[in-house]
Amino acid sequence: MSMEMEMNKLEATAAQQAAGDVAIGANIDKIYYGDFLAVRDAAVDIEKGKITGFIGPSGCGKSTVLRSLNRMNDLIPIFRLEGHVHFLGQDVYGKNVDPVVVRRHIGMVFQQPNPFSMSIFENVAFGLRLNGFKGDISGRVEKALRRAALWNEVKDKLKQNGLSLSGGQQQRLCIARAIATEPTVLLMDEPCSALDPIATRQIEELMLQLKKDYTVAIVTHNMQQAIRVADKTAFFSVDMTQGGRTGFLVEVGDTKQVFENPKENLTKEYLSGEFS
Ligand SMILES: Nc1ncnc2c1ncn2[C@@H]1O[C@H](COP(=O)(O)OP(=O)(O)OP(=O)(O)O)[C@@H](O)[C@H]1O
Ligand SMILES: [Mg+2]
Repeated sequence: MSMEMEMNKLEATAAQQAAGDVAIGANIDKIYYGDFLAVRDAAVDIEKGKITGFIGPSGCGKSTVLRSLNRMNDLIPIFRLEGHVHFLGQDVYGKNVDPVVVRRHIGMVFQQPNPFSMSIFENVAFGLRLNGFKGDISGRVEKALRRAALWNEVKDKLKQNGLSLSGGQQQRLCIARAIATEPTVLLMDEPCSALDPIATRQIEELMLQLKKDYTVAIVTHNMQQAIRVADKTAFFSVDMTQGGRTGFLVEVGDTKQVFENPKENLTKEYLSGEFS
């Protein structure tokens, strides 16, 4: 089946309507890496037009869950998921679904800015060319760079290598690259952890702008960042009672509620540790 047909399938309107305000509905029972149970019981909805933050201690599975939402983890051969992930009502792990198409709808930005060693222009045009986009590439590149709040800084040097930019600029370039193909959802795994405070605040400002057009899910270690940008917060923890180290979702809710009035003791304990 062609990618375009798959895309049409993914955009099936009936399923979209059934999904309501939910862009991605994840009902993860278990995620294994080989025999290792990395995550269990993570049911979380990524709501349209909002920013959902994933927080929790190291190793609790934040990246694993995030990467399972657009099948990025398929690239790891020992990865195995039990459960379901739905994108606009369609099963992302369905039999005939092409993961490449899923990733076109659900884009991703990583912790380390990773521009390609090519011009700023070509970095942003990359996905468009890959998809055989026949329209106005320059127009789309400019639009993506404007939306990524980078245009004014690079408009006079579009031919310069993307790697010549500062870390914060490189991360905005990666965001421009991710949104150039107009995904519906943007997943970001600790997008600011390699950046200084000023570049971090720029990316946070940008996220708040982006949520007008995109749905965003972000992993962060920075509690203040979650409070500043996330509408919803999902708190994960690690269960060591069975001898292993298995991550699980403790609670998810409006950010204000989770931070000020958490339902679960585990959340209370974690947050009091973080803020003490
Ligand atoms: N490619 C992999 N192969 C095997 N095990 C993995 C792989 N990636 C992650 N894991 C394991 O899965 C568990 C969850 O890891 P994950 O990276 O999702 O945690 P995290 O919450 O993102 O942690 P951090 O905050 O340190 O980034 C960990 O025990 C980790 O060692
Ligand atoms: Mg991680």
